[in-house]
Amino acid sequence: MPGIVYKKWLAVMLAFMALFLTSCGEKEAERGKLIMVTNATFPPYEFYQGSRIVGIDADMVREIAKRNDLELVIEDMAFDSVIAAVQTGKADVAASGITVTEDRKKQIDFTTSYVKADQVIIMRKGDAIAGPEDLKGKRIGVQHGTTGDLYVTENLQEPERFQDGALAVASLVTGKIHAVVLDSAPAEEHVARNKGICILPTALVSEEYAMAISKSRPELLAMFNRTMAEMKADGTMDTIWARYLDKDGKPLAVPAVVAEEEKGMWGRLADSFEVNFVKDDRWHYLVDGFLVTIEISACAVLMGLCIGFLVAVIRSAHDQTGRYKVLNFLCHIYLTVVRGTPVVVQLLIIYFVIFGSVDVSKVLVAIVAFGVNSGAYVAEIIRSGIMAVDSGQMEAGRSLGLSYGTTMRSVILPQAFKNVLPALGNEFIVLLKETSVCGYIALQDLTKGGDIIRSQTYDAFLPLIAVALTYLVVVVCLSQLLKKLENSLKKNER
Ligand code: ARG
Repeated sequence: MPGIVYKKWLAVMLAFMALFLTSCGEKEAERGKLIMVTNATFPPYEFYQGSRIVGIDADMVREIAKRNDLELVIEDMAFDSVIAAVQTGKADVAASGITVTEDRKKQIDFTTSYVKADQVIIMRKGDAIAGPEDLKGKRIGVQHGTTGDLYVTENLQEPERFQDGALAVASLVTGKIHAVVLDSAPAEEHVARNKGICILPTALVSEEYAMAISKSRPELLAMFNRTMAEMKADGTMDTIWARYLDKDGKPLAVPAVVAEEEKGMWGRLADSFEVNFVKDDRWHYLVDGFLVTIEISACAVLMGLCIGFLVAVIRSAHDQTGRYKVLNFLCHIYLTVVRGTPVVVQLLIIYFVIFGSVDVSKVLVAIVAFGVNSGAYVAEIIRSGIMAVDSGQMEAGRSLGLSYGTTMRSVILPQAFKNVLPALGNEFIVLLKETSVCGYIALQDLTKGGDIIRSQTYDAFLPLIAVALTYLVVVVCLSQLLKKLENSLKKNER
């Protein structure tokens, strides 16, 4: 009987839900913690060393936290979100090589600045670029949301905006763009690792970096300024600087560039594999990210199914019986809003606005965002399934003396579920892949795991291929599983 299979599924779903609720119960930041946000693609200020975020900013805040008896939590997110994270209270401080600008000052307060930096042009050696005037009409890469982005947009033309500087430099190296505008210190790091590129001696603008703190936290700002002054006076600042830069401000400890020419294609591939996955156990990023992706997807699918079922039943009941006017109206609004806006935007709104001032686990935020989003699609899929069930079935149920609800539950829904299984499967696959935008709220899912490897190894090819293959394998397995379920439901029918 399809009804039995359907009940079994319901039980499995509920069990999963319970599991998810317990796993999300743990809160992240408690009192006594200092949450710092950054975009760890910016050596020597912030970058990954193994699974730890290090660099001048990270070390500085670590020391500030230590001196004030706070436990530091560092979160890695897109650069264009770090200021918003502080502003909305998601984090206490943003330390991310942030340039002090008048516009940013309107949003947040800055600590005293701790370093001067320039925006510079990185180009391929031998290209005919002598100064900014030669950049007009050329393709210029920047990191999205940075002052480099702003400079090029305001003074030259629309740039090509990349998620991080390393991606922009990778595009330059492979000849897709003509130049990259980036902050001087990370530019030095890139040039030290890539033989084919160099920095133009003339800088575009000089800037100062400071850390960002919410305007509503003057006491925290004072604490930072006080501790930074102490650290400057007792030489700690210099010690931190000396860990990453030499006396001329050039990066220390840059891995030697491999002599690529002597190795064949396979040799290079083997090297690249070693660097991207084996060295420093980098494969961990993929495995850990994979688990997060699966956790979010599985829970969101269940949540989406529950919401979808409910909405579909309300809408169909309204269509068939004219009842539930208000609920039907609400469902209609839900469907319109959710299906009318992109999931990334919904994720950001749920994180920064709806859960803006409450401290919830980000995994939970992602599950809610993707669950609510998927629910809308599932609702319409199931509703079409319900509508496809012959109306004689409802009449037969009712004439046997069953109530509307019982007929719906035990006659209509099981059949509808079976009919829409392929469409539902498709929705799950879409959902799984859509979770790849989780990195926007600093969640380390599979895609972000690949991004972190990329930011450490400056290699785009293998990390991206590995991430793509992993998704592909999961989707293929999922499709097989759904096929099995479909078949077993078919057998049950007889
Ligand atoms: N200094 C530039 C800015 O404030 C770029 C900073 C980028 N930082 C980073 N961690 N990626 O806009």
